[in-house]
Amino acid sequence: MKKNILVIGGAGYIGSHACKALSAAGYTPVTYDNFVHGHEWAVQWGPLERGDTFDRETLDAAFRRYQPQGVMHFAAHSLVGESVVDPGKYYRNNTLGSLTLLEAMRDHNVNQMVFSSTCSTYGVPEIMPIPDHHPQNPINPYGASKYMVERMMADFELAHGLRSISLRYFNAAGADPDGEIGEDHNPETHLIPLVLETAAGLRPQITVFGSDYDTPDGTCLRDYIHVNDLADAHVLALQALERGSKSSFYNLGNGKGYSVQEVIDMAIQVTGKSITVVEGARREGDPPQLVADSEKAKAELGWNPKFDDLEVMIDTAWRWLVKHRQLG
Ligand SMILES: NC(=O)c1ccc[n+]([C@@H]2O[C@H](COP(=O)([O-])OP(=O)(O)OC[C@H]3O[C@@H](n4cnc5c(N)ncnc54)[C@H](O)[C@@H]3O)[C@@H](O)[C@H]2O)c1
Repeated sequence: MKKNILVIGGAGYIGSHACKALSAAGYTPVTYDNFVHGHEWAVQWGPLERGDTFDRETLDAAFRRYQPQGVMHFAAHSLVGESVVDPGKYYRNNTLGSLTLLEAMRDHNVNQMVFSSTCSTYGVPEIMPIPDHHPQNPINPYGASKYMVERMMADFELAHGLRSISLRYFNAAGADPDGEIGEDHNPETHLIPLVLETAAGLRPQITVFGSDYDTPDGTCLRDYIHVNDLADAHVLALQALERGSKSSFYNLGNGKGYSVQEVIDMAIQVTGKSITVVEGARREGDPPQLVADSEKAKAELGWNPKFDDLEVMIDTAWRWLVKHRQLG
């Protein structure tokens, strides 16, 4: 019989791609989502349970009904700026919600968890590319809310034997190459969809925040990682836990930085459209570059990113946007 995996936040962007990868690997993904950001159309590979991470009764019912072997936990709010002005919203949803989930796992004897963490737990990087052992000093409530979950999971392992793998993603990008699912955030804050929406005429312009950084073309460098490569890493992390691996944490990125200008240039090339660019001031707290050292994930999980080319990331995202918004 196929093993059930409870996918918390499985109706969201990365969670839905993980559900597809789980299904391809022979698992049944059970999506558990409150649809604060998710989409019903994204739930295609297994059953759906509507519920909040804070709602212990609904969580208990899902654990009883599906007897999952493990949990993947994607559910969060993840807007850095919003977390600064409304920290309570972030600690409540991301941290308290995760605590409720961990207690439910403990009580239902489910002891394997793959958790969506973030490079925001590192704060201002001291070493570049950023290694997994870099100190974690988050500089905003979003990063702190995730860091606290990593800490709680370490304590739950010591006390209850609940093993977990934290995957610290850099910038998720692209869409399912088959075109079945893709990114649809509201509000959208990620660079690639914003640039593509501008190319499609859905936005008048794209603002580049700072063009005088100490980088080759003066714009910020970020590490983009294709969402299918992230999804594969989740399946590998789950399988490592199944084999009895100890708790761990891994960066997931490409190890390559692409500048904002390079993303815009590639979007022009892929779409064949013109894009109106406006220069804005630097944003506070934006480091000039954020690039991952993901060698540990490759060595220990056997992770091998397949879509690590910017053109592929932008092309899959563009094909998804055209289909999803019926622009063709
Ligand atoms: N997208 C990125 O580039 C990126 C980078 C680093 C880390 N992350 C983390 O990865 C995870 C997934 O990101 P995403 O871009 O797919 O986000 P998303 O908003 O598309 O998906 C999150 C899902 O969780 C659900 N959810 C939120 N709070 C919930 C709650 N309390 N109970 C039940 N469901 C809840 C939402 O409805 C949504 O379907 C998040 O935890 C995010 O912080 C994302």
